[in-house]
Amino acid sequence: MSDLPDEATLAAMVEAAGRAFAQATTLDDLRAAKQAHAGEHSPVALANRRIGDLPREERKTAGQAIGAARAAINQAYAEREAAVAVADLDARLVAEAVDVTLPVTLRPTGALHPVTALTYRMCDVFVAMGWEIAEGPEAEAEWLNFDALNFTPDHPARFLSDTLFLDPAAGHRILRTHTSPVQMRSLLTRELPVYVVAPGKVYRADEYDATHLPVFHQLEGLAVDKGLGMADLKGTLDHLARAMFGAETETRLRPHYFPFTEPSAEMDIRCFVCHGESVGNPARPCRTCKSEGWIEWGGCGVVNPRVLTAAGIDTDVYSGFAFGLGVDRTVMFRNNAADLRDFVEGDARFSRQLVGVAR
Ligand code: DAH
Repeated sequence: MSDLPDEATLAAMVEAAGRAFAQATTLDDLRAAKQAHAGEHSPVALANRRIGDLPREERKTAGQAIGAARAAINQAYAEREAAVAVADLDARLVAEAVDVTLPVTLRPTGALHPVTALTYRMCDVFVAMGWEIAEGPEAEAEWLNFDALNFTPDHPARFLSDTLFLDPAAGHRILRTHTSPVQMRSLLTRELPVYVVAPGKVYRADEYDATHLPVFHQLEGLAVDKGLGMADLKGTLDHLARAMFGAETETRLRPHYFPFTEPSAEMDIRCFVCHGESVGNPARPCRTCKSEGWIEWGGCGVVNPRVLTAAGIDTDVYSGFAFGLGVDRTVMFRNNAADLRDFVEGDARFSRQLVGVAR
């Protein structure tokens, strides 16, 4: 008489395994149930191992019965595993789902300040012609801001009322009143020929109102090479004016005085809105040029030989031209910005409105 499980016991083992598999809802639980019901120490495996102890004539029948029970358990496992794997994936898909329809917090995008945008644009015009960008400090040596540029010691621009001096006074440092000191810095540090534009902030002890800021922006230009003169200056500024205001833009030079250029001029551009037609025509006034037909754009001239000499340059061989334009002013008339205070109040809506300046 063998003590191997009979048919009913085997059926109970299959059933118990099936129940345990059905109860397992995760793959881990299911594997533990498999270990218990089909693993090395499971009742069916132990029974299988004892088949060899049976008398020879009983082995076949017992082997078939136990084999069938094991196959049934394995099949039940395989079916359940497939089902749990699907359920497991479904659960993960739900748990890890991203709801792309959820509302997001929209943050307003920033914008380049129109002065920055226009500065980049102007610089691009020069970089395209092979010029370089030069820089200088805003806290500048008085000598570079004035003396090196041929300002006499008693020139009115130096007076405290215009120039912001930095303590201690004996240090002779000021907040630069124009970008022109970068001319001298460029000549002292670069090989000739020099073709540079220098954008940057400048400071004057000015009122703060719709048309004045104590801090504003200029674009300085300087070219020093063999044989440069007024015609090269005019051609360069015409090119810039056309790039900024359209291919038809006319310019004119009006005689003026600057200590560091000789001859010196102010450059005007033909009003790109009324093209001069508002002049003497009260029926068609022009806000952009105030019906003057021309807009004053900046100062310029042929570099005074004294400046070149101060930089140690042989004026028999080299000459040059220079110019300085107000960037804030340019944004004002180019983009119809009426009040300079809008430029410094930091309201992004102002910048966004003028974002086209960058294009
Ligand atoms: N620095 C002058 C100013 O701030 C502008 C200027 C005039 C710059 C003539 C120049 C120049 O380079 O040649 O008013």
